[in-house]
Amino acid sequence: MLLKALTVACVIGYSLATAVPLAKRQAFSGDGTFFVPGLGACGFTNTSSQLVAALGHIDFDSFGNPVCKRQVKASSGGKSVTVEIVDRCAGCAGEFDLDFSETAFAVLAPLSAGRIPITWEFV
Ligand SMILES: *[C@@H]1O[C@H](CO)[C@@H](O)[C@H](O)[C@H]1NC(C)=O
Repeated sequence: MLLKALTVACVIGYSLATAVPLAKRQAFSGDGTFFVPGLGACGFTNTSSQLVAALGHIDFDSFGNPVCKRQVKASSGGKSVTVEIVDRCAGCAGEFDLDFSETAFAVLAPLSAGRIPITWEFV
């Protein structure tokens, strides 16, 4: 039982470590968009007024479920916002794209901007 738990912890730790050198606080670049959160891939129900985001499917699938609830600091045009990853963005074409709640997106740019260049890192 303990061995199994340790093995699972190692596998999760290993996949996160190989996918992203978290310790290095690597900054990623992608596109930022917004959507209306609901019941997401992480199993949480969130709303547009919360500071949350969906991670592009390429990254979500490579990190797997451990990425759920991770805090991400995203920046654009000299502004930044910290959001919680709560969903998988199936419509995000690029690697490192984030789909924000309207409240989170609005911290970075007016909603009328629609799509903005962002950089982000795990907090
Ligand atoms: C998202 O929803 C989950 C489940 O209701 C909740 O625990 C979490 O705090 C919410 N995230 C934010 C940033 O409000």
